[in-house]
Amino acid sequence: MNEIEIGPIDRYASLPAEVRLDRDRYYLVDNDGYKLFSRVCPHAGAMVELEDGEFVCPMHGWTFEADTGRCHNVPSAKLASYEVVLRDGVLYALMP
Ligand code: FES
Repeated sequence: MNEIEIGPIDRYASLPAEVRLDRDRYYLVDNDGYKLFSRVCPHAGAMVELEDGEFVCPMHGWTFEADTGRCHNVPSAKLASYEVVLRDGVLYALMP
């Protein structure tokens, strides 16, 4: 497990917030603990966007719960998620 620094918590006044780690794009959420959701749609790889409190894929219209990443259209599908820890005011993602 790799611990990757996301940045100081003060930077994220409102969540979900977009986060980039190298070339990869995520949303940082707080649902009983911080978590990153990959923005890559599990259907065919388009980038999901935050719209009206849920994540929406512009390619074929799948939508995902903003707190769990579960897909409304296909119950077995969900956004990949990664645990995040807060230590001394700094967020770190736990990546495989
Ligand atoms: S690529 Fe996202 S719904 Fe098809």
